[in-house]
Amino acid sequence: MQNREQWGSKLGFILAASGSAVGIGNIWKFPHMAGQNGGAAFTLVYLLCILVVGLTIVVAELAIGRSTQLSPVGAFEKLAPKTNWKWVGFLGVASAFVILSFYGVVGGWILKYIFVSLTGGFDSLSNDPEAAKSLFVTFTGSTWSPILFQVLFMALCVYVIVNGVKDGIESWSKIMMPIIIILLVVLAVRGLTLEGGIDGLKFLFLPRFEDLNASAIVLALGHSFFTLSLGMGTMITYGSYLNREQNLLNSALWVLALDTAIAMLAGVAIFTTVFALGADPAGGAGLIFFILPSVFPQLAYGSIWGTLFFSLLFMAALTSAISILEVVTAYFIDQKGWSRKKATIQFGVVITIVGVFCSLSLGGGVNITGYFGGTFHHFFGETFFDVMDNLSSKYMLPIGGMFTAIFILMKWTVPSFINEIGQTIIGKEKDASLVSVLCGTAAIVVGFIILNEIIAKVTGNAIIG
Ligand code: PFF
Repeated sequence: MQNREQWGSKLGFILAASGSAVGIGNIWKFPHMAGQNGGAAFTLVYLLCILVVGLTIVVAELAIGRSTQLSPVGAFEKLAPKTNWKWVGFLGVASAFVILSFYGVVGGWILKYIFVSLTGGFDSLSNDPEAAKSLFVTFTGSTWSPILFQVLFMALCVYVIVNGVKDGIESWSKIMMPIIIILLVVLAVRGLTLEGGIDGLKFLFLPRFEDLNASAIVLALGHSFFTLSLGMGTMITYGSYLNREQNLLNSALWVLALDTAIAMLAGVAIFTTVFALGADPAGGAGLIFFILPSVFPQLAYGSIWGTLFFSLLFMAALTSAISILEVVTAYFIDQKGWSRKKATIQFGVVITIVGVFCSLSLGGGVNITGYFGGTFHHFFGETFFDVMDNLSSKYMLPIGGMFTAIFILMKWTVPSFINEIGQTIIGKEKDASLVSVLCGTAAIVVGFIILNEIIAKVTGNAIIG
């Protein structure tokens, strides 16, 4: 315990934690979700979810980690010995396997697109989203090429994590986070100065409440977990490398602010450019991989803009992927006494192999979830890639987050939690009531959303949405 690794500085920790939060979710998922679900109306609901549910659970996870100086399984075991709470920790480790398997595949695609853009490969796609789509579908549906890039991406993750908390995670985040912010600001300014770019701003920030339906609210809540890396113990693990001096609430607010600001900036950079060039803003999930590659070549120095965009997306993906791998590595170090190197390499390889099956399910080989029938078909009747994505963001992360809130209320207790935070905000008594209300709200809202999702899957009719 004495020689547990620690973050080198307060700033280093904030950049590492926000590096985990800022990822493919901010730059790829948020803009297209907002674009399709009422622009600013969606943004408003999303901000509310982040502030009420997100902030509460970020602080809760950091406090659990710091107080125990252990990763999720050990942390729950230490605060609630010989109970079933440790299973919440195991759920987190399992979520890490599930998320990183498909996240690594997308990381590989991004890496490939940096090379395509750099070598002028987008030029022939100018103003032709159909051609861009066919390039993407052919690439992701092939057998070997996506696997090669996925393996490269995962190897880099393993390399960073083998180097440890301070020399690996922290030092890479300290370099990459500022670069991500600078590149996004440059791209956003570039978009805003294009003729017609301002229409993109209107699209993103003018509320269209008529487009906002119940399922968009469900989406906003689920996404607030994914984007803040909550519900699987990432923040518990990162919190476990903190000392008592760090102000938890202040750090959590920084992570929230950076995560939200970067999602907004990405939205501005993407939609101003898309509108200026008359492309389809409702391109959905294809926005990044089909629409943008057909838009960039229409700009002067298009391959440079394209390369910068995919490079920043790559860095965002890497700082998130390493935080997922760290959850698994820390488990084997803390609970099994393995060396960092052995844990990281062995499980980096296992996750990469699961990821290969995600990649192969998109057309290049076998889809192992394609064989399920009956009720299972409702849950597993998609590609293995989509099953892993939905399983984690719709079920595993929210369930983990819900139990974390319940754990604070029923087991660890609110006074112990407030004691770990170590500061009074509106007075001791009032703080306790506020925390109870926030944790209670988080647990109930998230519980309802999960139930809604399951009922919708099984019966085909949701309670809302
Ligand atoms: N927050 C990351 C994103 O927005 O892309 C994804 C993620 C990272 C989820 C780490 C969960 C996690 F533990």
